[in-house]
Amino acid sequence: MWDILLTDCRTATMDSAGVIDDAAIGIAGERLTYVGPRCDLPAGDLARSVHRLGGAWVLPGFVDCHTHLVYAGNRDRERRMRADGMSYEDIARSGGGIMATVRDTRAANAETLTDLTVARARAMAREGVTTIEIKSGYGLDLGNELKMLRVAGRVGKVVPMRVCRTLLGAHALPPEFAGNRDAYVRLVCEEMIPAVARERLAEAVDVFCEAIAFTPDETECIFAAAAAHGLKVKLHADQRSDMGGGALAARHRALSADHLEHLSAAGVVAMAEAGTVAVLLPYAYHHLGDTHLPPIEALRRAHVPIAIATDCNPGTSPMHSPLRLKEVACEVFGLSPQEALMGMTINAARALGLAAETGSLAAGKSADLAIWDIPDPTALSPENGHLIGRIFRGQPDGD
Ligand code: NIG
Ligand code: FE
Repeated sequence: MWDILLTDCRTATMDSAGVIDDAAIGIAGERLTYVGPRCDLPAGDLARSVHRLGGAWVLPGFVDCHTHLVYAGNRDRERRMRADGMSYEDIARSGGGIMATVRDTRAANAETLTDLTVARARAMAREGVTTIEIKSGYGLDLGNELKMLRVAGRVGKVVPMRVCRTLLGAHALPPEFAGNRDAYVRLVCEEMIPAVARERLAEAVDVFCEAIAFTPDETECIFAAAAAHGLKVKLHADQRSDMGGGALAARHRALSADHLEHLSAAGVVAMAEAGTVAVLLPYAYHHLGDTHLPPIEALRRAHVPIAIATDCNPGTSPMHSPLRLKEVACEVFGLSPQEALMGMTINAARALGLAAETGSLAAGKSADLAIWDIPDPTALSPENGHLIGRIFRGQPDGD
């Protein structure tokens, strides 16, 4: 007997079953046992508890596959600096940018960081998120990077959601290593990555490959170390300039290459061949006032899976709302609502290597879903996105 049966609902499964108008969804334990037309349900008493949803829409729980959710402080003064004409790079070179957040995050203890991060994660859960990725990258020394990843782990214990963790030790060169880049890359490869693998503090390793951060050669070394320790890789690629990041990520069979505003035609082909997911971060583009759009049409034509994510961080994307993300992805990047929804569900799950587990509604998958009082999923927006229920791993939650 199933635990829960949802009926009198409509569902957009985000897989081959498409939209089902008069649907039923069965859940036993943590798993979906049935997703299909109500008329095809077997007869008899099927579930301990039956919920008639009055025509509400059931969607997969959202997956936010790129966040920097653990941080202290804020970067509000940089809005003013940008308004005065300074670029993201100018601000970084003047000691602000990522390093400003590193100073605040190093100074915060684990309890404070946990409280800040849990509050952000709870807000995301209230908008239907059931899986998030959280990167380190504001510690930039062994102790503080591990502190951030442990905090991310605690979030998954406090808020009912799946948390995937990524080591981003190579986010910026900390000032104590100025003029000694090789030593910092060695620290990432020889101390951070082995410690993270040993203590199982992350599943993946990310690098910010950019003129103000790490070179393609340094990225290659870090990816080799990650592979040697059984960790997957992802890349902040081609955000501010064409560094060949998309192709580099594809060569290393990265789960995803993210940002991609300056991705080249060759990079698109390489990503298509490798099956590397393109994670677009439209709010960061919007917040920085960027004008160089990622090659979205080329990605579509090459059938590269497109995911979208909030990139929640205090500098380039101070925002953690999936509904706002959908809106900006459509308005600023011209994605269709359907593309945006795919990007926040199944393609985002793919960007975390979780496509078999979550991101769409199909029997056998984890029962991660959100119930919405909306006329149609394409209409979901910050104004009319009214969440009436959320289930994570088969457990309804009132968070
Ligand atoms: O994804 N681009 C690099 N990393 C972050 C920004 C981090 C920051 O500015 O604090 C991003 O946009
Ligand atoms: Fe990022």
